[in-house]
Amino acid sequence: MKDLITDIDIVKEKDREVCETVKVSENEHTGKERKLYIESYGCQMNFSDSEIVTSILKDNGFDTTSEFDQADVVLLNTCSIREKAEQTVRNRLKQFNRVKEDKPGMIIGVLGCMAERLKSKLLEEEKIVDLVVGPDAYRDLPSLVSKVDDGQKAVNTFLSREETYADINPVRLNSNGVTAFISIMRGCDNMCSFCVVPFTRGRERSRDPYSIVREARLLFEQGFREVTLLGQNVDSYKWSSEENNKARLEKTEVNEVVNFANLLEMVARVHPDLRVRFSTSHPKDITDEVLYTMKKYENICKYIHLPAQSGNTRVLELMNRTYSREWYINRVDAIRSILGQECGISSDMITGFCTETEEEHQDTLSLMDYVKYDFSYMFYYSERPGTLAAKKYEDDIPLDVKKRRLSEVISRQQQHSLERNKLNLGKTQKVLIEGFSKRSDEQLQGRNSANKVVVFPRENYRKGQYVHVKIEDCTPATLIGTVVD
Ligand code: SAH
Ligand code: SF4
Ligand code: F3S
Repeated sequence: MKDLITDIDIVKEKDREVCETVKVSENEHTGKERKLYIESYGCQMNFSDSEIVTSILKDNGFDTTSEFDQADVVLLNTCSIREKAEQTVRNRLKQFNRVKEDKPGMIIGVLGCMAERLKSKLLEEEKIVDLVVGPDAYRDLPSLVSKVDDGQKAVNTFLSREETYADINPVRLNSNGVTAFISIMRGCDNMCSFCVVPFTRGRERSRDPYSIVREARLLFEQGFREVTLLGQNVDSYKWSSEENNKARLEKTEVNEVVNFANLLEMVARVHPDLRVRFSTSHPKDITDEVLYTMKKYENICKYIHLPAQSGNTRVLELMNRTYSREWYINRVDAIRSILGQECGISSDMITGFCTETEEEHQDTLSLMDYVKYDFSYMFYYSERPGTLAAKKYEDDIPLDVKKRRLSEVISRQQQHSLERNKLNLGKTQKVLIEGFSKRSDEQLQGRNSANKVVVFPRENYRKGQYVHVKIEDCTPATLIGTVVD
């Protein structure tokens, strides 16, 4: 039996820094001995990893539960990207520990980026967990759990150069049965000075393209109609049969090299009714070849998440993003000229990075005016221990200034989102239905190719269907219309 999706949105109203989504496991009773509760924070890659972890533990005697106080093993898949993300996890661990006082056999484990960053500190100094497992060590989970069963503490934070979990079939959590994530690579070789990811996720490695296509095909056969290919920097996806001979299943004589554009094409060919999305594109690496591949296939969605971080070249240099404002603008121009105005573009922005002046902040606002993003994730800078910026630069912008700049960026984005949404009024767009709208069971919702949420009356339509919707109204976040076919 499966419960409905449990999806808690914590919107931090006061400083509106970020909308964090927490995902928890669902109830599934198949008669297994023990119960697993897994709660995930952070990026889509982390959510995707939780599906791998669940698959591994389901094969080793676990059913899942959506109630942590019912679980034998409670796992938090954590994020270290900003200080607040870690604070949220610490508070949650304290809550779990209070429940554990009455349930001494319960095992509490930390997975993911915070596990990797803090390693055994969480066990030894803070004594709030029994199990610490980094992102490349999930195959070891069953034996680590047994170790804890035997009364020992267990840690594995080994970072691998090869692990891609290519052969593991993820258990889809919080699934609408229509859209799914596929991890295509792991780690990151960029060294953006503000970012903790290269330290928590290790070296970049690309997954066997044939295993990716197989996963996409299987999802399609199961009724899924959209896959999102995930990586920290998908444009640097690169796989060669020679280097990966061991992992390769279908061997050929010649060395085959697959880049991201090639991979996109391979997945797009699985079926014309399987939509393909991807995230995240890096402005330094996104190629015209990728843009032309997107143009060639109707089922590759016309939407690009292209984080700028800042609109000022000096700040971008300090951030070690390895592109300038001009380079970024050139990439946006290429998107517009190859894919047209309709292609959705979104960004991530950081305000108040070390030494950022008021004029440099204005450059971020003017870049936003130039691009007119459909959507952005916006943050104020949060210094992370061990990063290049923490070592080299002083975190010298006062918090109130960071927050004021952030609120300016947020309100500019609100204007642009509304402006961009208004361009859709009167148009008819193909929408993949994902389920009921958040507000009412009389309305359905899905997304158009550009990733915008479209809401329309339910009539007799069902999730998983494609419909054409005429857009009649909009808010900054949603398009509203009626089905015309
Ligand atoms: N790989 C992606 C980003 C992954 S992290 C990319 O290169 O764009 C997601 C976002 O978190 C980043 O784009 C950045 O905007 C934000 N972020 C990362 N480190 C941060 C920090 N120290 N403070 C504030 N925001 C940060
Ligand atoms: Fe972090 Fe930069 Fe890698 Fe993105 S590309 S994960 S921001 S280091
Ligand atoms: Fe957070 Fe790790 Fe993702 S730090 S954003 S969970 S890669």
